[in-house]
Amino acid sequence: MSSRMPVPDAEATDLVEALRDDLVVADYTVEHVAELLGQGASAALHREQPLPARRALAGSDDPVATMVRFFTLGETHTLDALDAAFPSLRAKGLERLGLAVPADSGLRSAVDLRPYGDENSSWWLASDLSELATGSVLATDHVLGIGGASTTLARWTPRREVASALDLGTGCGVQAVHLAGHVQHIVATDLATRALDFVRFNAALNRLPLEVLAGSMLEPVAGRRFDLVVSNPPFVITPRAEGMPGYEYRDGGAVGDAVIRDLVRSVGDHLEPGGIAQFLGNWEMSEGHGFEQVWTEWLEGTGLDAWVVQREVQDPFEYAELWARDGGAGVNSPEYGAMYAAWLDDFAARGVESIGFGIVTLQRPETERDPLVDLMDERGPVASAMGPTIDAGLRARSWLAQTSDDDLLDGTWQAAPDVTEERHTKPGADDPSVIMIRQGGGLGLAIQADTVLAAFLSVCDGSMSARTALVAIASLVGVPDDEVIAGTLPLLRRLIANGMLERVQG
Ligand SMILES: C[S@@+](CC[C@H](N)C(=O)[O-])C[C@H]1O[C@@H](n2cnc3c(N)ncnc32)[C@H](O)[C@@H]1O
Repeated sequence: MSSRMPVPDAEATDLVEALRDDLVVADYTVEHVAELLGQGASAALHREQPLPARRALAGSDDPVATMVRFFTLGETHTLDALDAAFPSLRAKGLERLGLAVPADSGLRSAVDLRPYGDENSSWWLASDLSELATGSVLATDHVLGIGGASTTLARWTPRREVASALDLGTGCGVQAVHLAGHVQHIVATDLATRALDFVRFNAALNRLPLEVLAGSMLEPVAGRRFDLVVSNPPFVITPRAEGMPGYEYRDGGAVGDAVIRDLVRSVGDHLEPGGIAQFLGNWEMSEGHGFEQVWTEWLEGTGLDAWVVQREVQDPFEYAELWARDGGAGVNSPEYGAMYAAWLDDFAARGVESIGFGIVTLQRPETERDPLVDLMDERGPVASAMGPTIDAGLRARSWLAQTSDDDLLDGTWQAAPDVTEERHTKPGADDPSVIMIRQGGGLGLAIQADTVLAAFLSVCDGSMSARTALVAIASLVGVPDDEVIAGTLPLLRRLIANGMLERVQG
């Protein structure tokens, strides 16, 4: 579908600077918007319910109220009202920049422009107007704003200071703006030309130097390597059936989950030694071909370390409902029914029984060694910022890959401060029937411990080596040392990999 709305003009540099001035002076920030809306209306807006926000902002003469009503809620404003809210850019500047179009009594917004931030920085991001603002089904060339998947990826990205990074399928540039805080040179790519116009505009508005390249998946960066590749790619499994809308923002055009499989198999060529690729994805699972089988096949021969965390599993019905609804087709519309059926037929044709979703972290090992693969099915609550967990977990896994069992046993260890033990004892019994070791932060892991592991953690205060502790426990429980050590080592490696056991530097 051709573009039906203008895209913002990044080349009109003076006007972009005037807009920036207006946004700064008005204090168009996440915090200020939240304050004006209040908690309930903010949450309702998040659920795509604009009414409470309209009521909260009605009558306010704060320029930020006008900005939210104009850019997010899609309300038409008079030229005078816009001149007052944008004193540097003025209403005519909004139109000239491609941010507004004439409407009955003034102008209405052509784009969504909203503040966005993390603990360290704040930005503004322009994207296409949402269904909430337009009241209509999304166009197939819709450029997505900040969505749940965008923030999930941003929260899981390890933020090491590095020289180069690639944001593949940048859209309006959500990941790219985060990268600007810790990466010297950022390349942002997309297949969609409208997305590239938005990302150029957002880079100019936020004064961020981005190298913007057009093309499919890794083609625009042929022959180039990066320290970090991040991607919220078009991973949605889409039937290649007549009448299915081909949304550019979610559909990579392949059959089944091939977009993600191909990315796994090709991204290693674009990573520096020690370089990391992190992306979201879906994978199809069938009888005898579950999470572990799919990923073992995909990773074979790549030479990459892999840490895949499966966060969600849906059946074909749930998947079809989610994505048939996503473009804005009402659940009672004929389009919705046709799409639902097409998804079910498509999954049935390949015998797909369930679809996994998760976060994939791949690493090119710094030195020649066997790759380390960790496939975790962890669907429970996790810390809100997972980047530090991934960063520390990759370092721990790299260390483990190069460390012999003997060296590990000679080290001294202690439980991390967020580790607690939970004992479940049947009424009247002396000994617990279940002991759980719980992680307070990060992935929030819960690991069932046997008596040996529980005893090990209780004596593990950094005063003796792991070997000394295990040998002492072996004699207490009357089991040969070798047996206790061999039985406990995999658990120790698991605890170390996930930051639940910390090395005490001696
Ligand atoms: C789910 S959106 C992600 C946008 C943004 N990076 C984020 O995190 O929210 C996927 C993006 O991939 C782009 N895309 C679709 N097919 C592509 C392809 N073959 N190669 C590169 N990008 C593609 C879409 O235009 C869209 O901007």
